[in-house]
Amino acid sequence: MDQPTDSSLHRPAADAPAIDVYRGRRERVLAALRAMGGGVAIVPTAPEVLRNRDTDYAYRHDSYFYYLTGFSEPEALLVLDASAAAGEPAAILFCRARNVERETWEGFRYGPDAARTTFGFDAAFASDEIDTQLPRILAGKPALHYALASSAALDEQVRRWLDAVRAQGRSGVTAPTAAHDLLPLLDDMRLFKDAHELDIMRRAARISAAAHCRAMAACRPGMREYEIEAELLYTFRKHGAQAPAYGSIVAAGANACVLHYPAGNAIAREGDLVLIDAACELDGYASDITRTFPASGRFTPAQRELYEIVLAAQKAAIDATRAGVSFDAPHEAAVRVLAQGLLDTGIIDRTQFSSVDDVIAERAYTRFYMHRTGHWLGMDVHDCGDYRERAAAADAQSDAAPPWRTLRPAMTLTIEPGLYVRAAEDVPERYWDIGIRIEDDAIVTEHGCELITRDVPVEADEIEALMREARAPA
Ligand code: GLY
Ligand code: MN
Ligand code: MN
Repeated sequence: MDQPTDSSLHRPAADAPAIDVYRGRRERVLAALRAMGGGVAIVPTAPEVLRNRDTDYAYRHDSYFYYLTGFSEPEALLVLDASAAAGEPAAILFCRARNVERETWEGFRYGPDAARTTFGFDAAFASDEIDTQLPRILAGKPALHYALASSAALDEQVRRWLDAVRAQGRSGVTAPTAAHDLLPLLDDMRLFKDAHELDIMRRAARISAAAHCRAMAACRPGMREYEIEAELLYTFRKHGAQAPAYGSIVAAGANACVLHYPAGNAIAREGDLVLIDAACELDGYASDITRTFPASGRFTPAQRELYEIVLAAQKAAIDATRAGVSFDAPHEAAVRVLAQGLLDTGIIDRTQFSSVDDVIAERAYTRFYMHRTGHWLGMDVHDCGDYRERAAAADAQSDAAPPWRTLRPAMTLTIEPGLYVRAAEDVPERYWDIGIRIEDDAIVTEHGCELITRDVPVEADEIEALMREARAPA
């Protein structure tokens, strides 16, 4: 399989924020809040976090805030006033003021004026005006909408702002009397990706696929996991991705049986499989790819047997991913194939289970497949959004879990079955310490799904071919 060329991954030249996209999302939130009787929504971005003396962790904006603003500076907060009178600002940004000295050390800041025009807000103020402006904005408004009880700091800020409004009570000002959790509304919006998001996610996926190709091509027996990780990180940054979307998993040999094993010092030896679960974040969107390949470039017969089972499970899950089916359908399809494979190989004792249905009913497969087959993917690698329908009031008393959510077009999710066989006396020795996961990213469509991560080979023969070509003398 051809590896993507460098030029095919280059970012488009235009980097101006997509004002209309973010404004459109804010308008949808405002319309939804007006339909609920109005009130004021407050969405802060993420705080900066100290790593150690004078050094912060790499800054990452809050996903909800960025979804509604496209603004990635710290110390910012969005206010959406769904009860604003006609002609009053409804979308208000608070952000850092310009500061020549700080900008000399830390770089450019938009400041309120440029942020307002560049990002299309109705009004913008400096962050140090938050505590004076918020009580003014909240005065006389019926309700507050924010990420209820998700951050002690935000809850405390809200309490202070409400106190400040109530302090004006003698002049006839009323404070909001209701607080609502804003996140379910935003979660349901974020669950369905718009064209702007899907474009970024496809580009993120292609960069991550190129990184996997590069790591496979570079891998030789004797390399350490961190050396292989370096090939991934190089490729992410080389193509403009800002960061890994999550801690890279590069697991040689038995380490692949540790689900969230971070790339370490272990040597990938001749005969080992290497499991890489790593992908980039591009412009605020995650990708998430896993491939498992032989360090030597050739699968052993036992490795290939299990690889083909996991790949068949993934194909079954992909076939089951389409609009109108339950979120659980791909998982059920994958589990059936994996359970059959565990019986066929004797990893699950055929004398104890008479059929694949028994293995599934007894959940015997969970010793070797202990995670689900997918999760929502988007701004966060494990993206927001309920996996089950919200219980209707009448059902709320029932002990039964509400039904799984139905897949719809423009939802995005991963498809990632695996098998993890640790050494154990009751398991055939040829399979010991083999861990395999295969993970691709999919956009749900009306009649199926679009796999956006398939620029990296997945068939065992194609993986071997890529590795063989990489070793061939020029
Ligand atoms: N990389 C984390 C996951 O696959 O869920
Ligand atoms: Mn995943
Ligand atoms: Mn993953």
